[in-house]
Amino acid sequence: MKIEKRDWFFIVLVIVILAIFIGISGKEKTKPVPRNAIHKPVYDEAYKNAPGPDASFVKKTFFKPAKKDAEKLCEPCHAQYNIKLPPNHPPKHRCLFCHKLVQ
Ligand code: HEC
Ligand code: HEC
Repeated sequence: MKIEKRDWFFIVLVIVILAIFIGISGKEKTKPVPRNAIHKPVYDEAYKNAPGPDASFVKKTFFKPAKKDAEKLCEPCHAQYNIKLPPNHPPKHRCLFCHKLVQ
């Protein structure tokens, strides 16, 4: 089978898409918000409107934690404990986009 110019374009496209996927998944190694006593206020705030155990399936499926509210707690408390971000830390607004809450 002869590989034509058009086929090469397709092959390269597939490789590029794969490379992007691998690149994105590699970034998922950011530390989650630790699920410990000190971070309990964060989880309480994020899940304050969480549907109860007998809420409808739809409500549970579409529930989103109140991340914007929880994020307001991060910096004041970290400042109190003198927790510094690493020097190469990416732009830090919206902490919970990167530092996931663990279920
Ligand atoms: C009530 C205080 C408090 C609040 C609120 C808080 N933190 Fe923390 N955080 C700490 C302390 C103390 C540590 C260091 C000890 C530890 O790992 O629990 C820490 C450590 C961390 C670490 C490093 C964990 C590790 O494994 O090294 C991350 C990441 C983090 N916090 C993210 C967050 C994010 C994101 C928020 C907001 C959504 C947040 N924290 C809110 C007190 C707080
Ligand atoms: C764009 C993504 C992104 C955002 C937004 C972000 N971080 Fe980070 N953060 C990282 C990465 C990447 C690292 C370094 C890798 C790691 O150890 O998690 C890091 C590291 C940290 C650490 C040190 C963890 C350690 O190793 O002890 C703390 C604490 C932290 N971030 C807190 C915060 C807080 C608080 C906010 C919000 C004000 C925030 N981050 C927002 C990506 C992000």
